[in-house]
Amino acid sequence: MNIHDFAKKKLDGTKISCVTCYDYSSALIVAESDIDCVLVGDSLAMTIYGYDSTLPADIPMMSAHIAAVARGFKAKSSQKFIIGDMPFTTYRRGLDNAVDAAGALLKAGAHAVKLEGADGNLEIVKHFVEGGIPVMGHIGLTPQFVNTMGGFKVQGRNDEKAQKILEDALRLEAAGCFSLVIEGVPAALGEKISKELKIPTIGIGAGKGCDGQVLVWQDFLGLNNGHKARFVREFAHQFDETKTVLNRVHEAILNAEYPNNAESY
Ligand code: KIV
Repeated sequence: MNIHDFAKKKLDGTKISCVTCYDYSSALIVAESDIDCVLVGDSLAMTIYGYDSTLPADIPMMSAHIAAVARGFKAKSSQKFIIGDMPFTTYRRGLDNAVDAAGALLKAGAHAVKLEGADGNLEIVKHFVEGGIPVMGHIGLTPQFVNTMGGFKVQGRNDEKAQKILEDALRLEAAGCFSLVIEGVPAALGEKISKELKIPTIGIGAGKGCDGQVLVWQDFLGLNNGHKARFVREFAHQFDETKTVLNRVHEAILNAEYPNNAESY
């Protein structure tokens, strides 16, 4: 998939599948799957590093994970599209610094960057796109705004707030975004925005009316063993499955059953 396929899929009415991916061995699996594209999200601050928000992600962290994913795809000769998240504050320190930050992600192997919100970002999006950096927008529940939103809460629940999110989407499209993540909004709003925009929307907790969906790796594999947001579907239960395997490993070692002769030199 390349950047033009996003527009093509919207025209065809073909849904876009996206998952977050953060490391080499996961990328090897994605490369052999039918998934269209991956997001190396700043959610890795939470899912991989255990922080309670995405704010601690920085450019060295994002670059290292993007590069690992890109190496995984290269090893499988995969052309899958990689979107890298711009970490918190890195695009709000003037255009030159923002270009340096985005450039680092593209040099690491991303094909596009994603940034959150519209206010104050339109000039940045235009500047990036004119400079050859494709941009995906992100509206609705924007996790980098956790402190201004007062938590990770569904957005756009009243008419005024829904209208603001729709206007933000239109402004980001006009600024040059090739696609837009819509996160944590009522399904009716996700559908309305998707119908009004020419660029494809990728939903997460934004209902089935979006042009595609993105799921977080740990969520859809069932790797979390705790609170599950309403929009999350666990397509597997790898927390329990992996725990069972760990216990088998422990038992085999304990009983001196592993390694056997065939596994020894
Ligand atoms: O960082 C991330 O994984 C994201 C998705 C939740 C869209 O931004």
